Amino acid sequence: MTTGWCEAPKSESTLQVLHWWTSDSERKAATLLAGRLADEGVYWQDVAIPGGAGLGAGKVLKSRILSGNAPAVTQAIGISIRDWDDLGFLLELDKVANDNKWNTSFFPTVLALIQPRKHVVAAPLGIHRINTLFYNRKILTALKLSPPENWDDMVVVAAKLKTAGIVPLAQSNESWQVTALFENLILAESGPAYHRELFVKQSVQAVLDHRLIEALERLRIMKSWMNAPVEEKTWPNVVRQFANREAAMMIMGDWAKGELNGMGYPTDDEFSCAAMPGTGKYHLYSVDTLSMFATNFQRGPAQEKLARLVATPSLQTDYNAIKGSVSVRRDADPARMDSCARASWSKFAEGVSVQAPSLVHRMATDESTRDAIIVVIHHFFIDDTVTAAETQKKLAAIFHTFNINNRQ
Ligand code: BGC
Repeated sequence: MTTGWCEAPKSESTLQVLHWWTSDSERKAATLLAGRLADEGVYWQDVAIPGGAGLGAGKVLKSRILSGNAPAVTQAIGISIRDWDDLGFLLELDKVANDNKWNTSFFPTVLALIQPRKHVVAAPLGIHRINTLFYNRKILTALKLSPPENWDDMVVVAAKLKTAGIVPLAQSNESWQVTALFENLILAESGPAYHRELFVKQSVQAVLDHRLIEALERLRIMKSWMNAPVEEKTWPNVVRQFANREAAMMIMGDWAKGELNGMGYPTDDEFSCAAMPGTGKYHLYSVDTLSMFATNFQRGPAQEKLARLVATPSLQTDYNAIKGSVSVRRDADPARMDSCARASWSKFAEGVSVQAPSLVHRMATDESTRDAIIVVIHHFFIDDTVTAAETQKKLAAIFHTFNINNRQ
């Protein structure tokens, strides 16, 4: 019997969660998690900050922490976890991790991210593949084209699409989306070792390598495969452009698959996915994680409930199927995944030698270095008068400065 009266949830069982999941499929995935959490008597108070790749959320989080108003939970990912941990803000989740055997359940790369120093300070949700090529099967088949596997294939496919009056590539000129394409080109050209030299080690020598120039030149060639002018669009709008057959291909993280499925386009019907041409052997990854702030110990039990829940096999399966990502668990069942997810999970499972940590998604370096690189690449992309050599010099200067800072 309902009384029409609802008891307000206690503050220690309400968790404010700051994140950047604002598209339809992202919201659906977050709602699933919030619902499962509610079943355990913990209430999710949503703080969603728009902006793909968390460009806005990172700034809001920083200012909230500085003003002493940290949320209970945040989507902090990659190197940001280490940076907030170094300042002593994060709740240690060692007990949850030990009780639930996280040590043997997760991939080693995931473990390293959630335990940057001594303690486990984040709970992992899923792994995204950033080097994903989406292609419209009907358009390619009608023109008797196969999905491109390397750069030369890409050049041929793009030319044929253009001749047929079809835009080859859906793309936005938002700075993070452009830089994501660039880091895909770096990986395609030179593999994970060079990608790490550049974005993890920030080696000045790597920046001065001719491979950087080649990747920049290819980025400019790719620009001619996009709508002219390339507009500034949010990523869900780029997905819509692709879904509406206004472009034949799209290179984007596999959250785009979640969005396409949610829009009524099942995988391997109208569209399929493959690896970004030239990167079939690699996995450019971003791991989504939630960290908890240790500012109110009364909330600790609720925070631990959330941490435990996100890593359970059933939540992993259901959440990742909506989100487009794949399970962080080594015991996940690939037979229950669609073809995109199966390829991503199996590739990631091959281990660190095939994995490349995404620059744009904070897996490779701290937020300031990443932001500085993004500005330079974006400038090169939007202004055709800027040369690859000038861009190389600017990047070398950034790396030089950050290297000096890191040594101090
Ligand atoms: C996050 C994803 C999110 C994507 C688009 C990435 O940094 O890991 O969860 O869907 O950005 O905003």
